[in-house]
Amino acid sequence: MRVLGIETSCDETAASVLRFTEGGEYEILSEAVSSQITLHEAYGGVVPELASREHLRNLPHMVGTVLTESGTSPDSVDLLCVTCGPGLKGCLLVGTSFAEGFAAAFGIPIAGVNHIEAHLLSPMLTHPDLEFPFLALVVSGGHTEIIAVHAVGNYTCLARTTDDAAGEAFDKAASLLGFPYPGGAALADKADGYVNDLFSLPKVMRESPGFSFSGLKTAISLLVQRNQNAMSDDTIAGKICSAVQDSIVDALLFKLKRAIRDTGIRRVCVAGGVSANNALRREVAKLKDVKSFFPPAKYSTDNAVMIAYAGLRRFQINPKKNEACTVRSRWPVEEMNFR
Ligand code: KG4
Ligand code: ZN
Repeated sequence: MRVLGIETSCDETAASVLRFTEGGEYEILSEAVSSQITLHEAYGGVVPELASREHLRNLPHMVGTVLTESGTSPDSVDLLCVTCGPGLKGCLLVGTSFAEGFAAAFGIPIAGVNHIEAHLLSPMLTHPDLEFPFLALVVSGGHTEIIAVHAVGNYTCLARTTDDAAGEAFDKAASLLGFPYPGGAALADKADGYVNDLFSLPKVMRESPGFSFSGLKTAISLLVQRNQNAMSDDTIAGKICSAVQDSIVDALLFKLKRAIRDTGIRRVCVAGGVSANNALRREVAKLKDVKSFFPPAKYSTDNAVMIAYAGLRRFQINPKKNEACTVRSRWPVEEMNFR
């Protein structure tokens, strides 16, 4: 069975072709991702309208490329999986409109995919033996959630952010510290070279069920203002970066530990761009009696392989033909639970 995956929910255009066997194994025949970072850099964040136009320009070529590279003719695609949400509405509309037209033209069944569900299941791409249940910490520029994954289509959200996502918190702090967008990785790189023994930032809300990073943003902004004159000192800047990183990682770890304690689930997968963070990896790997999984970066950040995979896993359980691809900018993953 050949599955075409399409992802356009934010600032990455991605397409993939996967082949699945009867036994449930899969093979990636072709995959492509085009990042729009350079397009949005000058604005310090993703500009939705520019992102939509860029998807429109890139998507048809990328689908053509993955089909050609995998030796797949359009009419031999057995299922088309496309991200319907959550994400930027205009961007999602580009992907779903293209997918619906393509599917109608070649008579292909279509499956609308929840982007967060795809992230949750992505660890299984490289760990097919990963057993349910597991906890998924999804941390990216757009999402911060801890979900208990009991089975495909059976999720409990244990914590999610009420304002900024963890990656957004890294990026906003990085911008205050003068790093170009998206500065999260650069801030983390700098932080790794220093131990902070000078600055204190407030602990991010511990009692509340969810995450909130807006207070931290204000505290960082004040810290930077107070130390403006000393910022040219590499050690001062490095220690501030280290304080920021410690504070964000501490917030994630605190709620992750609570989720492990409350559920008794001792398998943890970390996905999303922030999972590349060394300090976070180190702290998760240190958790006692917990098995941790980190999908490789290319399947941890936005990609179309996870979209094809998640769409097919659901389709195998509930093969709805020509499902309507209603675009949803907000789409809590619990709504994907099979009843
Ligand atoms: O999943 P992702 O590639 O894309 C979307 O959110 O769509 O995540 C990107 C986010 C950015 O906010 C980026 O700054 C952050 O992940 N990021 C990091 C690191 N590498 C990427 N944050 C902290 N430490 C890193 N090493
Ligand atoms: Zn994502």
